[in-house]
Order: sequence, then C-alpha cells, then structure tokens
Amino acid sequence: MAPPDEPLLHELIRKRWSPRAFDSRPVARETVRTLLEAARWAASCYNTQPWRYIVAFREDEEAFNRVLDCLVEANRVWARHAPVLMISLARKLHDHNGKPNRWAWHDVGAANAQLTAQATAFGLTVHQMAGYEAEAVRERFALDDLYEPVTAIALGYPGSPDQLDPALRERELAPRQRKPLEEIAFLGVWGRSL
Ligand SMILES: Cc1cc2nc3c(=O)[nH]c(=O)nc-3n(C[C@H](O)[C@H](O)[C@H](O)COP(=O)(O)O)c2cc1C
Repeated sequence: MAPPDEPLLHELIRKRWSPRAFDSRPVARETVRTLLEAARWAASCYNTQPWRYIVAFREDEEAFNRVLDCLVEANRVWARHAPVLMISLARKLHDHNGKPNRWAWHDVGAANAQLTAQATAFGLTVHQMAGYEAEAVRERFALDDLYEPVTAIALGYPGSPDQLDPALRERELAPRQRKPLEEIAFLGVWGRSL
C-alpha cells in the first residue's frame, strides 16, 4: 500500500491508512484509554463533546461478539481478527439548549480523526466502517434515541496481507486513490481551482 508522495505531510498523515490485516498482538487497555483521551480533546461545536464510544476487547468474547455481530458480513470477515472493536456514536442534542446539534456527526468525525492520529503515533492501525447495522447496535446496546451510531472501528497492530484471502489481499495491496486538489478546493469562487 503506497503512502502519499507529498513529502511535506506530517508522518502521522502519511502513515495512516485503513488496512484489513491485523496482528494477533493485543492492545493494552491503557493504550486504548490514551486513544480515547485523544478523541476527548477534539474541538466541538459549543464544546458539546457529542462523541461516545463503545469499546470491546477480544479477550471479552461476549462484548467483542456483541460489536462484531453488528457488522455486515463483508467487514466481519476481516474485522473479527482485530484485537479491539469500537463503535463511535453521536449524541444528537446540544447540551446548552437541548436543540438538535447539526454538527454532532462532524465532531464525532473530528474525534475519530484524533483517535486515529494518536493510534498511528503508537504504531497501531485504525479501520473505520460504515458497514454495520445501526438497528442492531441500537438493540444490542439498548441505546435510546438520543444517540446515533456513526462508525464501527477496528483497531490493532498491523498484520501481513498474506493473512488475507486473495480478494482482500488484492484490495490491501492496491494503490491508494485520491481526487486531485483542483477538484476539492476552490479559490474565491466556486469551481475556480487553486
Ligand atoms: C466513515 C467511513 C466509513 C467506512 N466504511 C468502510 C467499510 O464499511 N468497510 C471498509 O472496508 N472500509 C470502510 N472505510 C474505509 C475507507 O474505504 C477508506 O478510508 C478509504 O478507501 C481510503 O483509504 P485509506 O483510509 O486507506 O486512506 C470507511 C472509512 C470511513 C471514514
């Protein structure tokens, strides 16, 4: 998996990617706590801190399976080898006025990005997933309507692509794709490239 070729990017950005192969080495609870601290210190609208996390270590088989069973099969096949599974969730209302927080998902994404940067600094890899059943999360964790699952997260030390079946291995080794900057950033008016 080729890293971005932009030499000025910080190594935490260059090194981050979303692998499917995980080493069997467990991740220490203290390490995961630090990742959650990194998430906790993200910026958020009105400092509402709408992020919430469900964390399951593989050693706790019941809790781990509770998260794993919420994933779609295409993710379950590789994510079941991760030593830690998580679900990030958003609290939908602002604390200060009880009104809907339109930025809740944004802020959970920012927290997840910080968690991921800290994980990368520890030599860990993070793979976020939209492929899970939100209804299953609601039921299994008895969530009330105030909370919305955002992403499932597989976390662990990097493994070898050889652990994967051929189709996943091919995806694991494929070159990374990004849209050109001209397509995503505009100067002064919409559509004028930088
Ligand atoms: C919100 C979100 C949802 C994602 N859902 C899935 C998923 O369900 N399954 C999967 O294999 N990868 C998933 N990914 C990983 C993306 O496919 C990956 O980030 C993207 O292809 C860019 O690759 P990179 O992270 O290695 O740079 C998701 C990533 C994000 C941020």
